Amino acid sequence: LKTQVGIIGAGPAGLTLALLLRKQGIKSVILENRSREYVQARVRAGLLEQNTVDIYKSLGVADRLLREGHEHHGVYLSFDGKRIRIPFGELTGGRNITIYGQQEVVKDLTNEWIAGGGQIYFETPALKIEDFETNNPKIHFESEGEEGVLSCDFVAACDGFHGIGRKTLPPDTYKEYAITYPFSWLGILAHVAPSTDELIYAYHERGFALHSLRSEKISRLYLQVNNDDNIDNWSDERIWEELAIRLGTEGWTLKTGPIFEKSITPMRSFFIDNMQSGRLFLAGDAAHIVPPTGGKGLNLAVADVKHLADGLAAYYQKNAIEALDNYSKIALKRIWRAQDFSNFMTTLFHKQDEHGSFTYQLQKAKFDYIHVSNAYATTIAENYVGLPFAAFE
Ligand code: FAD
Ligand code: DHB
Repeated sequence: LKTQVGIIGAGPAGLTLALLLRKQGIKSVILENRSREYVQARVRAGLLEQNTVDIYKSLGVADRLLREGHEHHGVYLSFDGKRIRIPFGELTGGRNITIYGQQEVVKDLTNEWIAGGGQIYFETPALKIEDFETNNPKIHFESEGEEGVLSCDFVAACDGFHGIGRKTLPPDTYKEYAITYPFSWLGILAHVAPSTDELIYAYHERGFALHSLRSEKISRLYLQVNNDDNIDNWSDERIWEELAIRLGTEGWTLKTGPIFEKSITPMRSFFIDNMQSGRLFLAGDAAHIVPPTGGKGLNLAVADVKHLADGLAAYYQKNAIEALDNYSKIALKRIWRAQDFSNFMTTLFHKQDEHGSFTYQLQKAKFDYIHVSNAYATTIAENYVGLPFAAFE
């Protein structure tokens, strides 16, 4: 098997990269470990930044997203039962976010890739990346019990946190940074109309809660739980009770309904400070993880591959290697920003210490400051909707 860019992983990073490259006339092949059904059923993020939506519009894959997604022009922040709204329009010059499930994005991208004749091999794990310091790297893979080789000009490892891309980067080429948080998220999907028109992030003395949504009939909500907690401890009734308490504010009630998906996810900040070795490039969760508060994970993956596709286009069209050699540097500027913002949102809204402690007072001081300072509210709004690509280029 032979192509120009060998892509490992059919998550948002790999699929978006393949379509961006196709637009530039560059050929690629995608290898994906899991089945198509598995990848498309995986419930994860739901918040798309303006940048991400703009890229999908430019690729012609945004029809369903624009029809079924929900554009939000603000966000509610709640602290000890007091709720305020940050309006994006006035603070960000009209930039917004759109709520649309990651698995729907993945379905749309996969359909588009295949409809245009794109090659994608499901249930085909990449086993080893070789010769990436030469002009002809190779990806060894397994398909239906047989070993094969994909020979290419470049390898894009878009294979998530547990993939082989990062493990293949020579250890002396990067430094690793990591924080593990002392809490996790219990996330649910429920058949019930959202009780809010925009997302609510809440600090409560019992812990963090987030009200998000997927459609007029499906709500997505999250609760802070301990790392050693178990999903079996959480009956549907207990989940709804806890959500109602933590999200509660005067004159508002939380609608409840049948829960059809629940799981617990640990939270970490992780990244490496180099995403390239020779002709091997890392993008998305393969290179970094942010805690989910603020919804940056998926958007960072899309931003990475935008920069990578720009670099590859410059190489193939103008034989210019500078943009590719700058890939890590440009991508890392946004990654650092997102790491800071995700950590900020996480520490602002999660219960980290005794209610009433010094840490709590600092959290409260920040929340109260949003209320009085347009500058502080703007800082939060512009990070939340995502800074334009040009800001870091
Ligand atoms: P992935 O989506 O992980 O895609 C990588 C792909 O590579 C996978 O399909 C995998 O099967 C494949 N792969 C791995 N190894 C190999 C191999 N050896 N060969 C071939 N294929 C391979 N972000 C938010 O913003 N908000 C959230 O609420 C949120 N919730 C999340 C919940 C969970 C459980 C997880 C894991 C992540 C969550 N995220 C969330 C993060 C967000 O979903 C990710 O940032 C996003 O999926 C990154 O996309 P990606 O393409 O880089 O990686
Ligand atoms: C969602 C997830 C997030 O982490 C977030 O900050 C906002 C929304 C969601 O799944 O809808």
